[in-house]
Amino acid sequence: MEHILSCKQFTKQSLEELLDLAKDIKENPSKYKNALDGKIVAPIFFEPSTRTRLSFETAALRLGAKLIATENAQNSSTKKGESLKDTIRILNGYADCIVMRHNEDDSAEVAASVSKVPILNAGSGKKDHPSQSLLDIFTIREKRGKIYGTKIAILGDLVYGRTIHSLLELLTLYEGIEVWGLSKECFRLPNRYKEMLQAHNIKYHECSGFDELPRDIDVLYHTRIQSERFEGDFGKEEFVINKSVLSKFLQNTMVMHPLPRLNEISEDIDDDPRAVYFEQAHNGVPIRMAMYLTVMK
Ligand code: NCD
Repeated sequence: MEHILSCKQFTKQSLEELLDLAKDIKENPSKYKNALDGKIVAPIFFEPSTRTRLSFETAALRLGAKLIATENAQNSSTKKGESLKDTIRILNGYADCIVMRHNEDDSAEVAASVSKVPILNAGSGKKDHPSQSLLDIFTIREKRGKIYGTKIAILGDLVYGRTIHSLLELLTLYEGIEVWGLSKECFRLPNRYKEMLQAHNIKYHECSGFDELPRDIDVLYHTRIQSERFEGDFGKEEFVINKSVLSKFLQNTMVMHPLPRLNEISEDIDDDPRAVYFEQAHNGVPIRMAMYLTVMK
């Protein structure tokens, strides 16, 4: 694979190869410790990030690569008016791989159009966040043993949440998936994603309360209202997962979240074995190691 820009580029086979590689990395980390010896990775982040950036950096270091451009890209020549394409052209002379997060939906494709070194998209606008969705689906597979037949509820901001959009794209590669959407009316899933699900025979149920979700649902995937992506104030999340809400679901239900959380998940469930969001975030390291190896082999 040349670049990883979007979940749309995966086939079931290429996805499973990457997930299997991440699993092997997680189980046998020492096998990979010099795999990218001598390589240089340039992370450029035009938007805030903690987990994605630091786990991409950790992943590079764990493979023996070195990092440049550790400063926030908002302080780069972009501030002087340099175009994204020119920044990428320049980094091509320094690094063997570029990890980029940007607020524009098509930024990863723009970067890839001029880059001779692999681009790993670390989040582009409201559209794509492939590394997050890869670690999400890796976590689902690790916990359930399979992705086939997953019953998942997506919650929170289904309009601007790129993690939701990318995850749905990966799920269309599997049979037997069923999706429930629970959000405020203004954050309901855009039609193009509903149509995508429909085209893959995936049932989508739009809900207005937790009581409309099946008790034996496999995944409750919550997300933060992406207030930085729109004008106006749409208030706080109404559908909060707390102890009393979680008590209505069976023991196999996983609570997931890409993080950071605001009020979507209350801390009173953090110690419940069904709360997997911290483990999910930690899976970002083997997944991002697998991403580097997939594009830099
Ligand atoms: C997400 C993102 O950046 O889209 N964060 C992350 O990478 N884990 C979700 C969010 O910011 O709400």
